[in-house]
Amino acid sequence: MKHIFQKGMSKRTLLLLHGTGGTEEDLLPLANLLDNKANILSVRGNVLENGMPRFFKRLAEGVFDEEDLIFRTKELNDFISYAEKEYEISRADMTAVGYSNGANIAGSLLFHFEQPFKAAILHQPMVPKRGIRLPKLTGLPVFIGAGTNDPICSPSESEELAKLLQSANANVTLHWADHGHQLTHSEVEAAAQWYKKII
Ligand code: MLT
Repeated sequence: MKHIFQKGMSKRTLLLLHGTGGTEEDLLPLANLLDNKANILSVRGNVLENGMPRFFKRLAEGVFDEEDLIFRTKELNDFISYAEKEYEISRADMTAVGYSNGANIAGSLLFHFEQPFKAAILHQPMVPKRGIRLPKLTGLPVFIGAGTNDPICSPSESEELAKLLQSANANVTLHWADHGHQLTHSEVEAAAQWYKKII
């Protein structure tokens, strides 16, 4: 997968996953704010929707192509395994940081693989898939940034996601802000405070 890797000064790695229409450049400023000593692995989604990169196909806004979601989740998981060897990093020291579509593929990794990384920061995520049994996520810290006025993800869907992850024993922090689907500075600050405590 197309990506940027920047070597840091610690064994920690931030896995950055952009939103629809973004690229691997988009979330680089967040990494600096979160952990300026961490390695950065920033990946571009392999799907194009009218020229806009995404991590998996969708049938309509908020309606995911589940077959492609499963295929692409495995593709990203395999890419992480490749990157572990190529860059001598470890998913055991990796925090996924995703926004919107990137948060949804990170959520899908949590729904399909046991301990795919150490922790996750999900900005404006949705429930990636319903009706499956989640793997054990015992103690895995997850920050969910949710907007009370998000037109793409309703508050009840954010709560549903938190509950599903909690039912797999993930350690979930659901952070509410009075905003919509956009990524705000205050939410990034809240995620950074949370990250400093869990790392
Ligand atoms: C998605 O398709 O992943 C969500 O609708 C968020 C988005 O990318 O707009």
